[in-house]
Amino acid sequence: MTVRTIIQLPDPRLREETASVQNIAAPEIQTLIDDMIETMYAAEGVGLAATQIAVSKRIAVIDVSKEHDQPMVLINPAITASEGEELMSEGCLSIPGVYDKAPRALRVTLCAQDRTGKPYEIEADGLLAHAIQHEVDHLNGKLFIDYLSPLKRQMARKKLEKNKRRNP
Ligand code: NI
Repeated sequence: MTVRTIIQLPDPRLREETASVQNIAAPEIQTLIDDMIETMYAAEGVGLAATQIAVSKRIAVIDVSKEHDQPMVLINPAITASEGEELMSEGCLSIPGVYDKAPRALRVTLCAQDRTGKPYEIEADGLLAHAIQHEVDHLNGKLFIDYLSPLKRQMARKKLEKNKRRNP
């Protein structure tokens, strides 16, 4: 398994629409999934979308468990129902050092395929619902700062530039 490089804003590849995956059993897709899980753990994130390692495919991984030993694989995911709304504090591995609140549904229904290609459906709430919405957004080229006001978005960009100058 290889820890891949996570691309950061303003890399335009974060804005790409991703293509659905047909050949899930292919060795390169299985390796990609392993690498994504490894990269997510190495970065201490609760989720990672393929977009974030510059791969334009509809694959994301999430692990909201305390021990970081229950990785979930989301292939061709779709949110088919959502309920409620709450402002939730968020960060993103592609926007390091920036945290703000984005409006998210409290509860979502997710339809996706696992790494064997088997379809599944789950209902999620709390942190998992939150992570699902964040990662599915990534696969549509969307970032959490898109929900912020223009002023807050501007501040976030400035903060990111400043952090980059400090830790190039
Ligand atoms: Ni993110």
